[in-house]
Amino acid sequence: MKHDNPKSEVLWAGRLREKPDGDAFAFQASINVDRRLVFEDIEGSRAHVAMLGDQGILDGKTAAVLDAELLNIAREIRSGELAIDEGAEDVHSFIEGVLTARLGDAGRSVHAGRSRNDQVALDTRLYLKRRVHELCGGIDALIATLLDLAELHAESLMPGYTHLQRAQCVTLGFHLCAWASALRRDRLRFQDARSRIDECPLGAGALAGSGLPLDREKTAAMLGFSAPSLNAMDSVADRDFALELAADCAITQTHLSRFCEDVAIWASEEFKFIDLAEAWSTGSSIMPQKKNPDFAELIRGKAGRTAGNMVTLFTLLKGLPYAYNKDLQEDKEALFDSLDTVDACLRMFRGMIASARFNTKRMAAATIGGFLEATDAAEYLVRKGLPFRKAHEAAALLVRDAIAGGLDSIARLGLDELKNRSPLFDGDLYAALSPAACAGARRLTGGTAPEEVRRQIACLRKFIR
Ligand code: ARG
Repeated sequence: MKHDNPKSEVLWAGRLREKPDGDAFAFQASINVDRRLVFEDIEGSRAHVAMLGDQGILDGKTAAVLDAELLNIAREIRSGELAIDEGAEDVHSFIEGVLTARLGDAGRSVHAGRSRNDQVALDTRLYLKRRVHELCGGIDALIATLLDLAELHAESLMPGYTHLQRAQCVTLGFHLCAWASALRRDRLRFQDARSRIDECPLGAGALAGSGLPLDREKTAAMLGFSAPSLNAMDSVADRDFALELAADCAITQTHLSRFCEDVAIWASEEFKFIDLAEAWSTGSSIMPQKKNPDFAELIRGKAGRTAGNMVTLFTLLKGLPYAYNKDLQEDKEALFDSLDTVDACLRMFRGMIASARFNTKRMAAATIGGFLEATDAAEYLVRKGLPFRKAHEAAALLVRDAIAGGLDSIARLGLDELKNRSPLFDGDLYAALSPAACAGARRLTGGTAPEEVRRQIACLRKFIR
């Protein structure tokens, strides 16, 4: 059966004989944004009603009728039978309005001991617990994809860069593990934030709790929270969990943005380290030859938006007097946008990188010619007992000699030229300076040697399991 929406009545009619109309009412309404909390709102109301029944604040029959109707409403919204009324003030008013339209006084009794202030704090926390859990899953999935690629490329040589200048020889697997290591911390941050979301504001009321014999421990447990919040005023006034999550989103998005900068550089004709799949590229409306890394650029660009949302929330909260102020209604749009952005970008980045082809020949070729082996030449001398600063100088002079001779690597110099700079150089230097030897020598914890990269992969795999 199709239900008509009740003509939305504001919850605060009574004291105020007039209500803002048209534009003004719509301006202060939040249904457009908080409608996504509808199932959390219903879940919270069910727990509240059950508790009211258990405590004898509602009679058992009323509580049962309310619970059944709340379930109906949830089902009808899911099936599309009941549409959320865009003319309602917010999702809380909407649900209570439907209950009242259908059940009369039973509907009017649901809000005993509750305020929309604790209700919205509850709904948001319930929603965030789920979303954060999903985001953690998204991060793990991306880490898993990166690790698969890292395993494939544990021995694929490429230049490592500082200042975007070739620095030392690394492996692609190592570079991918660097990304994955950052994502690991991102997931830990979200997980940690979740522990602070995990307290139940229900029963805080408008700001000071309730004189009715509510059982806050019971509703907290029913809703899967570890405990009720400690202080009612704090529960309705603070949004530090939103700040924290917005920051966590901004950090994750900033990581993705940097990975995407690598990808965009690698995709350039000058580098050609990576070939993005056609399905993960776009063309130009005028230049027929173009294959642009638009996805990487867009993900990179969205880091600005998540940083902006974080600043929005800080600015919103700064200077707000305790306890609830309507300003707080503005918290959701920014936070939801950050969650949606990171969620989408994790999936997009994963799709893009999983389908890309790495041009390992180009990468390996780029390890020759930039004197990436210079540090290794210096370390060769350190191993033979020379103080590092002297070794550094000897290697630097070799680089100069090579450049002056039009050579592209230290290994192209003859042994007598090497000995000219330090008698400690021997014929075994040549083997030590090959890109594979340079990368392979960095076997210490955290290094780029293939066996060490495999160990890092195993560590990260254990983490996401
Ligand atoms: N829509 C409001 C919000 O998101 C719900 C709380 C309203 N409370 C109030 N006292 N006006 O913050």
